[in-house]
Amino acid sequence: MASLLYSRFHLLLLHLLFFLFLRNSSSSSSSVSALGTTITDPPSLVESVCTKSKDYTFCTKALNSDPRSPSAEVTDLARISVELAEKNATETLGYIKQLLNGTNNNNNTDDNLKKALLLCETEYENGVASLQTALNNLETGSYDDVNVLASLAYEAIQACDKAFGEGKVHEPTLSPMNQNTMLLCDMSTVISSVI
Ligand SMILES: *[C@@H]1O[C@H](CO)[C@@H](O)[C@H](O)[C@H]1NC(C)=O
Ligand SMILES: *[C@@H]1O[C@H](CO)[C@@H](O)[C@H](O)[C@H]1NC(C)=O
Ligand SMILES: *[C@@H]1O[C@H](CO)[C@@H](O)[C@H](O)[C@H]1NC(C)=O
Repeated sequence: MASLLYSRFHLLLLHLLFFLFLRNSSSSSSSVSALGTTITDPPSLVESVCTKSKDYTFCTKALNSDPRSPSAEVTDLARISVELAEKNATETLGYIKQLLNGTNNNNNTDDNLKKALLLCETEYENGVASLQTALNNLETGSYDDVNVLASLAYEAIQACDKAFGEGKVHEPTLSPMNQNTMLLCDMSTVISSVI
C-alpha cells in the first residue's frame, strides 16, 4: 500500500517536472550541458524588458544595436533607449522641416498637407524636448519622471501621425518614420518604468 502511494506520488512528480520542462523550453533559449541535461538560460535584462514593449523583435534589435546593452544595468539600458529615441526623433524632425521647406518652394502644395506638417513640426519639437529632459533626468539620477516624459514624447508623435489620417493628406514616407520613433519611445517608457 505504502509503495503504491509512493509510486503514484512519483508519477505526479514526473508529470510536474515534464510540465515545467515544456514551459521553460518554449520560453527562452536553452543549451545542452556536457552531461546531456538541458539547461535553460535565464532571460537577459534586454529580453525581459522587451516582453513588456509593443514590439519584442523591434525592441531587442534596437537595444542590441548598442554594444553596451547586453551587459547594461537597467538605468544604463534606459539611457541607451532614450538616446536612441531622441536621436531618431531629431532625425525625423529634420526630415519634416525638409518637407516643409519643399512646400514653401511649391505654390501648388495642398494647404492640408502644409497644416499637417506644421503640426508635426510642433509636436516633434515638444517630443524631442521631452526626451532631452528625460536624458538630463537620467544623468542627474532623478528617475521618477523619465517614463512620463517618454510617454509624452510617444503621444506627441502619435498626434503627428494622426494628423495625416484625419486630414486625408498623405505623406507615405513619414508614417513609417513615425512608427519607428513611437516604438523607440514606447521602449523607453517600458524600461524607465522598471527603474
Ligand atoms: C531612426 O530613424 C530613421 C529615419 O526616420 C530610420 O531610418 C531608422 O531606421 C531609425 N532607427 C531606428 C533604430 O529605429
Ligand atoms: C529649402 O529649399 C531650397 C530650394 O530647394 C534650398 O535651396 C534650401 O537649401 C532649403 N533649405 C533647407 C533648410 O533645407
Ligand atoms: C510662387 O508664387 C509667387 C507669387 O505669385 C511667385 O513670386 C513665385 O515665383 C512662385 N514660386 C514658384 C516656385 O512657383
